[in-house]
Amino acid sequence: MTLNTRAFDHWIRTRFVELNTQLELLYATQVDRANVEGIGESLKIALEAEGREMIAALLAEGNTDEGFDHAFGLLGNVGLYMAACRRHEITEPSREQVSPLTEASALAMHIGASIGVTPRFATAHLTTHNSADNGLYKRFTNLPAEKLFVDYNTKGILAYKRAADALLKIQPLGISHPIAADLLVVAKQALVDVKESNKQLFNKLDTNDFFYCVRPYYKPYRVGSQVYRGANAGDFAGINVIDMLLGLCAANEAGYSQMLVDKFLYMMPEDQRILRDCMRRSSFMDELLALQHLHHEAWFKENVRLFLEVCRLHGETAIQHHNELVNKYIAIPSQTMEQQHMDKVTASGPPLPVLLNALEKLRDRRSAACRSDIKTRYDDIKSLTASLEAR
Ligand code: HEM
Repeated sequence: MTLNTRAFDHWIRTRFVELNTQLELLYATQVDRANVEGIGESLKIALEAEGREMIAALLAEGNTDEGFDHAFGLLGNVGLYMAACRRHEITEPSREQVSPLTEASALAMHIGASIGVTPRFATAHLTTHNSADNGLYKRFTNLPAEKLFVDYNTKGILAYKRAADALLKIQPLGISHPIAADLLVVAKQALVDVKESNKQLFNKLDTNDFFYCVRPYYKPYRVGSQVYRGANAGDFAGINVIDMLLGLCAANEAGYSQMLVDKFLYMMPEDQRILRDCMRRSSFMDELLALQHLHHEAWFKENVRLFLEVCRLHGETAIQHHNELVNKYIAIPSQTMEQQHMDKVTASGPPLPVLLNALEKLRDRRSAACRSDIKTRYDDIKSLTASLEAR
């Protein structure tokens, strides 16, 4: 790390967190907690100016090629700064044509394009690739709600990745391999872990603290002239690897592949590779449906039983995400929010009803619900279940 990179990283881990936290505490004392206008102006000026000065020094330094990890870490730091400026409305994409954070935009675009990711902070920067310094990892604020949210996002993502890794290892063995059963058991346990972690998050996270002090850092912001959607916990390949290997979702369905296309650059390059590879493969569901005539075989009974349990658990995590987390922390508080702030609620940009509708379809695909308007595997799951009972 160069001296300038180290100094900026130190600033992000210390002063930046203090400034954001002080601003959050000021906003929280208002009747309309969502308002940021005219509050803490001197803190906002300090945040913008101190960050700009450090970034200008980094930009002048040029590309010092210190490897992927450092470049990715630096992009994350610039991104956290830009997201905080957006949160405090120092920048506002609907007000501007080009980001006024000229130096930050230039540095973010330089790094993003050179390492093959979007030029903004992504989920991995705060979760799976957020290195701790003496136990403390990077965050926007030191508010307990933010730590809780990031901790449980990280736990959830890592557990989904464990499930995806186990399923990927079945590929070279084939779904009829007796040891595929061991891997299905690993995937099952990992999905149980996702459920447990989501449940804890649901029980512990305060709705208002999340909605007013955490979520706003995940809004879309402009880098150069383009607006980039906010980060969300789904920006890793594992969740879609599970969807597609199980066969609950398919890459040749427009509604689903649209989401994949949109998320590629928000993922780490290694995740992009995994997802690309997975999109070319067939699903276990299709393979098992074609082998139903072998229903009397021991491997079939064992592996199909476990496969169906993995599908059920994957569906349950999706139902939990939508019916519990999205509903409690986004949909319900949005109803009580002052209308003037409503257009700024979601991380990805589309109006809330559009976003909720898309997430509902994902939930129903993953849980193989009975729907006539979109393709789900409802009938195929029934057919495989019946083949286990056939004599
Ligand atoms: C307070 C907790 C959470 C809330 C309110 C929440 C809300 C949302 C919302 C609204 C989206 C749509 C993207 C957008 O806003 O533009 C989303 C996407 C997503 N979230 Fe969460 N989320 C939470 C926690 C989690 C956790 C812990 C996980 C587990 C890894 C997770 C996994 C996903 C995934 C995979 C997506 C992408 C869409 C999908 O494939 O389902 N979320 N989330």
